[in-house]
Amino acid sequence: MKLPPNEQLIIALDVDKESVALELVDELKEYCVTFKIGAQLFTKCGPKIVEKIHHKGCQVFLDMKYHDIPNTVAGAIRAAVDMDVFMCTIHVSGGTKMMQAALEARGDRLTPKLIGVTVLTSMDQPMLEEVGVMKTLEMQSNLLVNLAQKAGIDGVVASPQEVFRIRQTVDKNFIIVTPGIRPEIVADDQKRVATPKEAIRLGANFLVVGRPVICAPSPIKAAEQITREMWEAK
Ligand code: C5P
Repeated sequence: MKLPPNEQLIIALDVDKESVALELVDELKEYCVTFKIGAQLFTKCGPKIVEKIHHKGCQVFLDMKYHDIPNTVAGAIRAAVDMDVFMCTIHVSGGTKMMQAALEARGDRLTPKLIGVTVLTSMDQPMLEEVGVMKTLEMQSNLLVNLAQKAGIDGVVASPQEVFRIRQTVDKNFIIVTPGIRPEIVADDQKRVATPKEAIRLGANFLVVGRPVICAPSPIKAAEQITREMWEAK
């Protein structure tokens, strides 16, 4: 059975060639509506890659994880508004003033959705202590989720291990974007990953998938498999 396009699946275009990124969009847009452009592709190709993906009828999640003084972040968000991206990321640890400046820069538009990065999933307890944070990872993550919600941004990025806990404490409309997804057929015993079905059942709104799709022998088959697993969760 042919599946409809999956609005909750976001494919991370972690490549550094425009041609490769656009070929992936052409191949995958049958299954996926939103593509994530991160620092790698944006630094290489600039805003024209956003425009080209829009021309193909798809949405862009601009994942630049802004963390700067409020005035600078506000300027970056105004640029993201001009590019008409669907979603973008800011670091919650930039503080309430920075998040509010980002919200003001967006004004009364509904997009880009402003999504906060809490504790990067690549950080462990010693790394957190190295930068002077003496709370446990879980306490720090909770603190930043609360801060994000109070500031009024739209949601957070959270690892599969955090989704359920966060979903219990935030408003219904608060968005949870989850990376660290591995399809059932290739899921291994890595600690910080989940299958698409698990992540949806835990309460994630959007799943970000990179290598399991873009490095697969057949990206389209991998995207189809993930979409199928996401539908099974419902
Ligand atoms: O290839 P993989 O599926 O692991 O890619 C996950 C994507 O999610 C990458 O683009 C990475 O930058 C992003 N990510 C994130 N926040 C995290 C972990 C990964 O945005 N905490």
